[in-house]
Amino acid sequence: MSDINVLAIESSCDETAASVVRNGREVLSNIISSQIDLHTIYGGVVPEIASRKHTEQINQVIEEALKTAGMSLANIDAVAVTYGPGLVGALLVGVSAAKAISFATKIPLVGVNHIEGHISANYIENKDLEPPFVCLVVSGGHSHLVKVTDYGEYEVLGRTRDDAAGEAFDKVARAIGLGYPGGPKIDRVSNEGNPNAIEFPRAKVADSVYDFSFSGLKSAVLNYLNSCEMKGETVNQADVAASFQKAVVDVLTEHSVAAIREFNIKKFAIAGGVASNTHLRASLEEACKREGVSFYRPSPILCTDNAAMIGAAGYYNFIKGKISGYDLNAVPALKLGE
Ligand code: KG4
Ligand code: ZN
Repeated sequence: MSDINVLAIESSCDETAASVVRNGREVLSNIISSQIDLHTIYGGVVPEIASRKHTEQINQVIEEALKTAGMSLANIDAVAVTYGPGLVGALLVGVSAAKAISFATKIPLVGVNHIEGHISANYIENKDLEPPFVCLVVSGGHSHLVKVTDYGEYEVLGRTRDDAAGEAFDKVARAIGLGYPGGPKIDRVSNEGNPNAIEFPRAKVADSVYDFSFSGLKSAVLNYLNSCEMKGETVNQADVAASFQKAVVDVLTEHSVAAIREFNIKKFAIAGGVASNTHLRASLEEACKREGVSFYRPSPILCTDNAAMIGAAGYYNFIKGKISGYDLNAVPALKLGE
């Protein structure tokens, strides 16, 4: 069988990214232009600024991805692009670029779900990983526990009822003065703190074993900070960070173990920006070892937003014949499996 090269484009949030991926697993280039510095002064992503910056960056990021891979469009078999979920104005930039390339060259267009992309990042460095497996997807916008039954086939076991895990990290980081983006900063600062210093709640969702809720935890941290201020007590930033992070890691680990046990699947993977958290990785790795399950995790650079993961997912869509028409549009609230 001849090789299949996918040009992939990702612009759903604050990274403009393009990549060339061969046969779904081999990354020939992975270009990421991050806008984080632009948004930091506002304490979060500003949608209008994100779309404008994507428009400025997209063509050169795509050219760079092809150049680094040593290719031209003549070598490309499919153009994969994230069409949701994400910020509508940001998604539209990538979708329009992919449609233009596809229309001009007649290279097939493949729409990819961003969450499916995150999950598929696991295929890149784990050449032996095949479904079925259970995957915990934790990013700035999403927290899902998913059963991957086959390539491109997903059963969502649980999702967050309110804030996503990464959103909670970002909000708590801001409250304790660490700034944006909060996840990596809490990860680092918590190394100097005591994770058992403050007892924050581990939220349970009444009618579901697998759903998450993080807004109560976030409020508990804010209440704690307020009460310290009222009492004139100084806040130990590292202790708050470590205790908050432990509460998140405990809940994510507990839910993951419950799924591993219920479905008796011997493979467990993590994905999304929060999956680069060193404490979460360690906790899940240990839990998998205890349960006798293989543990898969992408390198940190493939956990946060990138286009290589979209190329991996796009490849499996493409070989299954899931080709998109030129009416492909941005779908900001796209669900997994749609
Ligand atoms: O997957 P991602 O790049 O974008 C979305 O699809 O949302 O995830 C970004 C999120 C942010 O909330 C960021 O704070 C969080 O991932 N994050 C982390 C870490 N690195 C990134 N959270 C905890 N620990 C980290 N090391
Ligand atoms: Zn993402």
